[in-house]
Amino acid sequence: MKIQSVALFASGSGSNAVNLIRYFEGNEEIRIALLVCNKADAPVVEKVKALGIEVLISGNQSFEEGLELTAELQEQGIDWIILAGFLRKLPVALIRAYEDHIINIHPALLPKFGGKGMYGMHVHKAVIEAKETESGITIHLVNEEFDKGRTLEQYRVSLDETDSPETVAQKVQELEHRYFPYIAERTINQR
Ligand code: GRF
Repeated sequence: MKIQSVALFASGSGSNAVNLIRYFEGNEEIRIALLVCNKADAPVVEKVKALGIEVLISGNQSFEEGLELTAELQEQGIDWIILAGFLRKLPVALIRAYEDHIINIHPALLPKFGGKGMYGMHVHKAVIEAKETESGITIHLVNEEFDKGRTLEQYRVSLDETDSPETVAQKVQELEHRYFPYIAERTINQR
Protein backbone atom coordinates (compact mmCIF):
# COMPACT_ATOMS: atom_id res chain seq x y z
CA MET A 1 0.00 0.00 0.00
CA LYS A 2 1.29 3.50 -0.81
CA ILE A 3 2.46 5.41 2.24
CA GLN A 4 -0.56 7.06 3.84
CA SER A 5 -0.16 10.81 4.40
CA VAL A 6 -1.92 12.29 7.40
CA ALA A 7 -2.95 15.86 8.21
CA LEU A 8 -3.40 16.55 11.92
CA PHE A 9 -5.97 19.18 12.89
CA ALA A 10 -5.54 20.82 16.32
CA SER A 11 -6.38 24.11 18.03
CA GLY A 12 -5.02 23.86 21.57
CA SER A 13 -2.05 22.74 23.62
CA GLY A 14 -1.27 19.94 21.20
CA SER A 15 -0.26 17.13 23.55
CA ASN A 16 -2.05 14.59 21.35
CA ALA A 17 -0.63 16.08 18.14
CA VAL A 18 2.92 15.87 19.54
CA ASN A 19 2.26 12.34 20.81
CA LEU A 20 1.03 11.23 17.36
CA ILE A 21 4.00 12.81 15.57
CA ARG A 22 6.44 11.06 17.88
CA TYR A 23 4.59 7.73 17.56
CA PHE A 24 4.69 7.76 13.74
CA GLU A 25 8.31 8.97 13.45
CA GLY A 26 10.11 6.50 11.16
CA ASN A 27 6.88 4.64 10.36
CA GLU A 28 7.17 3.20 6.84
CA GLU A 29 3.42 3.11 6.11
CA ILE A 30 2.02 6.24 7.72
CA ARG A 31 3.47 9.76 7.52
CA ILE A 32 2.34 12.84 9.45
CA ALA A 33 2.67 15.44 6.69
CA LEU A 34 0.96 18.55 8.00
CA LEU A 35 -0.74 20.28 10.89
CA VAL A 36 -3.81 22.41 10.22
CA CYS A 37 -4.61 24.93 12.95
CA ASN A 38 -7.18 27.70 13.11
CA LYS A 39 -5.07 29.99 15.35
CA ALA A 40 -1.53 31.12 14.50
CA ASP A 41 -0.75 31.63 18.20
CA ALA A 42 -2.06 28.29 19.48
CA PRO A 43 0.61 26.47 21.56
CA VAL A 44 0.38 23.44 19.27
CA VAL A 45 1.81 25.48 16.36
CA GLU A 46 5.26 26.07 17.86
CA LYS A 47 5.46 22.56 19.32
CA VAL A 48 4.74 20.95 15.95
CA LYS A 49 7.01 23.32 13.99
CA ALA A 50 9.82 22.36 16.41
CA LEU A 51 9.27 18.74 15.32
CA GLY A 52 9.76 19.74 11.68
CA ILE A 53 6.15 19.41 10.56
CA GLU A 54 4.63 21.95 8.16
CA VAL A 55 1.83 24.08 9.64
CA LEU A 56 -1.13 25.49 7.69
CA ILE A 57 -3.24 28.13 9.40
CA SER A 58 -6.83 27.93 8.24
CA GLY A 59 -9.92 29.43 9.77
CA ASN A 60 -11.99 27.58 7.14
CA GLN A 61 -15.00 29.60 8.25
CA SER A 62 -16.79 30.06 4.95
CA PHE A 63 -17.95 27.40 2.55
CA GLU A 64 -15.49 28.74 -0.02
CA GLU A 65 -12.62 28.47 2.49
CA GLY A 66 -13.70 24.88 3.07
CA LEU A 67 -13.39 24.19 -0.64
CA GLU A 68 -9.95 25.83 -0.70
CA LEU A 69 -8.75 23.83 2.30
CA THR A 70 -10.02 20.59 0.77
CA ALA A 71 -8.26 21.36 -2.52
CA GLU A 72 -5.04 22.20 -0.64
CA LEU A 73 -5.04 18.91 1.27
CA GLN A 74 -5.76 16.93 -1.88
CA GLU A 75 -3.02 18.86 -3.68
CA GLN A 76 -0.62 17.80 -0.90
CA GLY A 77 -1.70 14.16 -1.32
CA ILE A 78 -3.27 13.90 2.14
CA ASP A 79 -5.05 10.54 2.56
CA TRP A 80 -6.28 10.82 6.16
CA ILE A 81 -7.25 13.53 8.62
CA ILE A 82 -6.76 13.03 12.36
CA LEU A 83 -8.48 15.56 14.63
CA ALA A 84 -6.63 16.09 17.90
CA GLY A 85 -8.56 18.84 19.64
CA PHE A 86 -9.75 20.87 16.67
CA LEU A 87 -12.32 23.37 17.86
CA ARG A 88 -13.84 24.42 14.56
CA LYS A 89 -16.72 22.77 12.75
CA LEU A 90 -15.25 20.94 9.76
CA PRO A 91 -16.40 22.21 6.37
CA VAL A 92 -18.90 19.86 4.74
CA ALA A 93 -16.75 19.83 1.58
CA LEU A 94 -13.88 18.38 3.62
CA ILE A 95 -16.01 15.73 5.35
CA ARG A 96 -17.41 14.61 1.99
CA ALA A 97 -14.00 14.56 0.28
CA TYR A 98 -12.54 12.51 3.15
CA GLU A 99 -15.53 10.30 3.91
CA ASP A 100 -14.55 7.52 6.37
CA HIS A 101 -11.04 8.97 6.44
CA ILE A 102 -11.39 11.45 9.30
CA ILE A 103 -10.59 10.15 12.80
CA ASN A 104 -11.50 12.09 15.95
CA ILE A 105 -10.96 11.59 19.65
CA HIS A 106 -13.53 12.70 22.20
CA PRO A 107 -12.59 12.88 25.91
CA ALA A 108 -15.72 11.08 27.14
CA LEU A 109 -17.79 7.91 26.54
CA LEU A 110 -20.07 8.98 23.65
CA PRO A 111 -22.96 9.29 23.11
CA LYS A 112 -22.95 10.73 26.64
CA PHE A 113 -21.24 14.10 27.13
CA GLY A 114 -20.96 14.86 23.42
CA GLY A 115 -22.33 17.52 21.13
CA LYS A 116 -22.24 21.30 21.20
CA GLY A 117 -20.08 22.89 23.90
CA MET A 118 -18.75 19.53 25.10
CA TYR A 119 -15.00 20.05 24.87
CA GLY A 120 -12.06 20.36 27.28
CA MET A 121 -12.93 20.91 30.93
CA HIS A 122 -16.62 21.40 30.12
CA VAL A 123 -16.78 17.64 29.50
CA HIS A 124 -15.06 16.64 32.75
CA LYS A 125 -17.11 19.11 34.82
CA ALA A 126 -20.31 17.62 33.36
CA VAL A 127 -19.10 14.07 34.16
CA ILE A 128 -18.41 15.02 37.80
CA GLU A 129 -21.71 16.91 38.12
CA ALA A 130 -23.51 13.82 36.81
CA LYS A 131 -21.71 11.73 39.48
CA GLU A 132 -20.53 9.27 36.86
CA THR A 133 -18.58 6.25 38.17
CA GLU A 134 -16.52 6.10 34.98
CA SER A 135 -15.30 8.22 32.10
CA GLY A 136 -12.96 7.59 29.21
CA ILE A 137 -12.30 8.29 25.54
CA THR A 138 -14.13 7.61 22.30
CA ILE A 139 -12.19 7.34 19.05
CA HIS A 140 -14.56 7.60 16.09
CA LEU A 141 -14.88 8.38 12.41
CA VAL A 142 -16.30 11.81 11.63
CA ASN A 143 -19.39 12.28 9.52
CA GLU A 144 -21.59 15.30 8.91
CA GLU A 145 -23.11 14.87 12.36
CA PHE A 146 -19.57 15.01 13.82
CA ASP A 147 -19.71 13.16 17.18
CA LYS A 148 -22.08 10.60 15.66
CA GLY A 149 -19.65 8.91 13.26
CA ARG A 150 -18.90 5.19 13.64
CA THR A 151 -17.13 4.42 16.95
CA LEU A 152 -13.76 2.76 16.41
CA GLU A 153 -12.93 2.13 20.06
CA GLN A 154 -13.71 3.27 23.58
CA TYR A 155 -11.49 3.03 26.65
CA ARG A 156 -12.78 3.50 30.20
CA VAL A 157 -11.42 4.64 33.53
CA SER A 158 -13.20 4.34 36.89
CA LEU A 159 -14.04 7.39 38.98
CA ASP A 160 -14.88 7.76 42.66
CA GLU A 161 -16.00 10.52 45.04
CA THR A 162 -12.43 11.78 45.38
CA ASP A 163 -12.27 12.71 41.69
CA SER A 164 -12.53 16.29 40.42
CA PRO A 165 -12.76 17.64 36.85
CA GLU A 166 -8.97 18.06 36.98
CA THR A 167 -8.28 14.45 38.03
CA VAL A 168 -10.72 13.20 35.39
CA ALA A 169 -8.88 15.27 32.78
CA GLN A 170 -5.61 13.69 33.91
CA LYS A 171 -6.96 10.13 33.77
CA VAL A 172 -8.55 10.75 30.36
CA GLN A 173 -5.41 12.29 28.91
CA GLU A 174 -3.42 9.23 29.98
CA LEU A 175 -5.84 7.07 27.96
CA GLU A 176 -5.60 9.44 24.98
CA HIS A 177 -1.83 9.31 24.86
CA ARG A 178 -1.72 5.55 25.34
CA TYR A 179 -4.38 4.50 22.79
CA PHE A 180 -5.04 7.20 20.16
CA PRO A 181 -1.91 6.51 18.06
CA TYR A 182 -2.50 2.75 18.19
CA ILE A 183 -6.16 2.97 17.10
CA ALA A 184 -5.32 5.54 14.39
CA GLU A 185 -2.61 3.20 13.03
CA ARG A 186 -4.92 0.15 13.19
CA THR A 187 -7.69 2.03 11.37
CA ILE A 188 -5.42 3.38 8.62
CA ASN A 189 -3.70 0.03 8.07
CA GLN A 190 -7.02 -1.81 7.87
CA ARG A 191 -8.01 0.14 4.73
C1 GRF B 1 -8.22 16.19 24.07
O1 GRF B 1 -8.88 16.08 25.33
C2 GRF B 1 -9.04 15.46 23.03
O2 GRF B 1 -9.78 14.36 23.54
C3 GRF B 1 -9.99 16.53 22.58
O3 GRF B 1 -9.23 17.72 22.58
C4 GRF B 1 -8.21 17.62 23.58
C5 GRF B 1 -6.90 17.99 22.94
O4 GRF B 1 -5.94 18.08 23.94
N1 GRF B 1 -10.51 16.25 21.27
P1 GRF B 1 -4.42 18.39 23.46
O5 GRF B 1 -4.41 19.76 22.83
O6 GRF B 1 -4.01 17.33 22.49
O7 GRF B 1 -3.61 18.33 24.75
